Amino acid sequence: MKAITVVPGKANSTSLEDFAAPTPDEGSVLVDTIAVGICGTDLEIAGGEYGWAPLGHERLVLGHESIGRVREAPAGSGFAEGDYVVGIVRRPDPVPCYNCAVGEWDFCRNGQYTEHGIKSLDGFMRQQYRAEPDALVKVDSALGELGVLLEPTSVVAKAWEQAERVANRATWHPKVAVVTGAGPIGLLAALIGVQKGLAVHVFDQMTDGLKPDLVREIGATYHTGPIEQSVTDPDIIIECTGVASLVFDAIEHIGSGGVVCLTGVSSIGRELSIDAGMVNRSMVLANEGIVGSVNANRRHYEDAATALATANVEWLSKLVTRKVPIDDFAQAFERQPDDVKVVIQISAE
Ligand code: BGC
Repeated sequence: MKAITVVPGKANSTSLEDFAAPTPDEGSVLVDTIAVGICGTDLEIAGGEYGWAPLGHERLVLGHESIGRVREAPAGSGFAEGDYVVGIVRRPDPVPCYNCAVGEWDFCRNGQYTEHGIKSLDGFMRQQYRAEPDALVKVDSALGELGVLLEPTSVVAKAWEQAERVANRATWHPKVAVVTGAGPIGLLAALIGVQKGLAVHVFDQMTDGLKPDLVREIGATYHTGPIEQSVTDPDIIIECTGVASLVFDAIEHIGSGGVVCLTGVSSIGRELSIDAGMVNRSMVLANEGIVGSVNANRRHYEDAATALATANVEWLSKLVTRKVPIDDFAQAFERQPDDVKVVIQISAE
């Protein structure tokens, strides 16, 4: 079967190859992959900057944002042939640490967790994979192939949960949220904010194209300038760019008692001059919370499934701006200005 693989640490080593079919020891449920989304992490892995091959292997099958259909599932597994499913990206460490032991692998303490398509576990850019039922999440058939958005939505569902948990240390009646970045993560974060009944303001650089429309269509407000020019004292900021200057901008402009949740993985090695004393002083004097958030556990996938099931399917479908057939996979790794979510079509639905 076909698979897209990479040699982690080696730039431009992605290739389409003939890969062994999954064996029953990989899991009792056999899944036909339909499509796999590409995100910044995949681009970093393809660029040789991130990623680990499975132990004893040189190559890693890429892909962690997937949608597929069950081909074969044992009776009593909770899955049946034809179900739309998404594979959970992170698997608990083998020790397991106390978080992994209770299913909170997104908070793994010892770093020995694995991640499909990223860290020591083959990913979903292959025509079939196998998984145990507890590593799969069912997706509403009304969403179908758009279930490919479930994994990125799980990441922002966790971000919202984390921010709310910090904010709830005191009485909290949030009204205004800011989201920085109108890529897939920012747009999905905005969607959840709107579903929560907040006035959501999304900040991005693009002055035209699809992004401003996508933001307005869910009832959020789109801005291109600095935060302070348009929004004062937001209750919550979900930072989705990882751009260091924007991260500190967010920290500087959060309202008193508010929370900034950081979700962007920044590139490293660039220096920024900041008044650290001022940052500390305002954080302390205004009870500001800053929380980092990565990955997602099953609860967040379930929250994400609810968010997607409640969203407008037409809007969700507009987020997928390019579908690239598996044989032309290299095109999916070339960013184009109008891209929101690019997916590789592994097989027909
Ligand atoms: C994935 C997460 C993963 C993180 C770090 C992100 O792109 O969505 O599931 O934990 O990368 O590897």
